[in-house]
Amino acid sequence: MKATALILAAGQGTRMKSETPKVLHKICGKEMLGHVLDAVENLGAEQKIVIVGHGAGLVTEQMKDRGLTFVHQKEQLGTGHAVITAQKELPEEGIVLVMCGDTPLITGETLKEFAEYHIKENNSVSVLTAVLENPFGYGRIVKDSQGRLLKIVEEKDADDEIKRINEINSGMYCFDAASLKRNLGRISNNNAQGEYYLTDLIEIAVMQNEKTGAFPVKDNEEIMGVNNRVQMADAEGIMRRRINNKHMLEGVSMINPEAVYIDTEAVIGRDTVLYPGVIITGRSVIGEGCIIGQNSRIENSVIGRETEIQSSTIIDSKVGDKTSVGPYAYLRPGSNVGSKVKIGDFVEVKNASIGDGSKASHLSYIGDADVGRDVNIGCGVVFVNYDGVNKFRTTVEDEAFIGSNSNLVAPVHVEKNGYVAAGSTITRNVPMGALVVGRPKDRVIPGWGERKMKEKKEKKNVK
Ligand code: UD1
Ligand code: CA
Repeated sequence: MKATALILAAGQGTRMKSETPKVLHKICGKEMLGHVLDAVENLGAEQKIVIVGHGAGLVTEQMKDRGLTFVHQKEQLGTGHAVITAQKELPEEGIVLVMCGDTPLITGETLKEFAEYHIKENNSVSVLTAVLENPFGYGRIVKDSQGRLLKIVEEKDADDEIKRINEINSGMYCFDAASLKRNLGRISNNNAQGEYYLTDLIEIAVMQNEKTGAFPVKDNEEIMGVNNRVQMADAEGIMRRRINNKHMLEGVSMINPEAVYIDTEAVIGRDTVLYPGVIITGRSVIGEGCIIGQNSRIENSVIGRETEIQSSTIIDSKVGDKTSVGPYAYLRPGSNVGSKVKIGDFVEVKNASIGDGSKASHLSYIGDADVGRDVNIGCGVVFVNYDGVNKFRTTVEDEAFIGSNSNLVAPVHVEKNGYVAAGSTITRNVPMGALVVGRPKDRVIPGWGERKMKEKKEKKNVK
């Protein structure tokens, strides 16, 4: 059956108190609207229409790769008006799923069950509902004595009897396309808010003797709408638990899942252990059997297998297998670290490749460099890549040794097996197998220290 999804996202989201349109606020690294679209994807909708209004430019820009049809609703005159605005885009047949862009917790499974129910019942319109302890604020589901759905009454239009109904409208509907098109023109704005209510279509359908139905959601969490940042944090908590549970059931360990933050798109291999404070964002991929230690942040990066990351930050980079990173290392964008490498404490790498088996164990800056295999980079080595105007690259070939506290002033080339003596400043190439000592010769002044010590002691005795 042909399915079309129509998502209402023109509202301002005033209560978010934000410059960003509400539906672009992110939950676990993805826009709320993106989550809704993912759920819709599961339904196999052929066409996805998004009604935009406030912040339309930003929404269309950010969602341009998702194959959507955007319809601009200039004035927000109500949910019914929003759908009327899209009338030209609506199909002649099949089902039309209408939902809102601010319900990020809805799942594809639920939408599928809902659509199947709608089709099986041969309804003109079906409403996804929930039974809430506190239904305040929602439209109430009004049924007759046989349980047939008669209408939806908004809180502001409800009398006391209707306010006592605790089955509510989630704001998600399935329509028969032909019926929707026929009935849209019958919506008026004769109500407490002076708005065109989409919900009126229920009563309109009943009046045309069309079949209506209510489908209660199994898990109320799924229909939760986000209106402010408190609700957004609640939704994020629920989403985070879902993501973490999924990974744990797939074989990832978490010492304390409450304190592990993983974006929706991340992939993590089996037997990897995540410690508290780990943040994995973007399209990161982490292999099997890794240890990701406390407070590590891995953003959009690929980590091999059996690699250990301790309290480090890795952004837009690649790390191989059985490598160890940190504590307190910083791999900035464009770092490509091989396998069995050691990147130790307070080592910063940027736009550099480091070959298999190499080591930079402490306190180094490796920027704009190509470092080969089995290279040893001593403590405190600096790749001097910037002259204040331009950046230059450094090459260090396989099995070279860079002594501690050396500066490699780029562009410079250390050839295979080249040795740089500790404390050197290197400005010329180091030939293959050579040792370069690039520091002033030591000067020895006999007795100097002894004399100094004597002076000190005498000074103290005077006081
Ligand atoms: C709506 C339902 C209510 C339901 C609730 C569930 C109506 C009349 N009422 O109420 O029964 O319980 O959702 O959350 O539909 N929007 C537009 N253009 C407009 C107006 C709204 O795109 O002109 C969008 C908003 O951005 C929002 C969604 O539609 O995403 C819902 O609008 P809102 O005004 O929040 O409806 P509610 O009063 O919450
Ligand atoms: Ca609302």
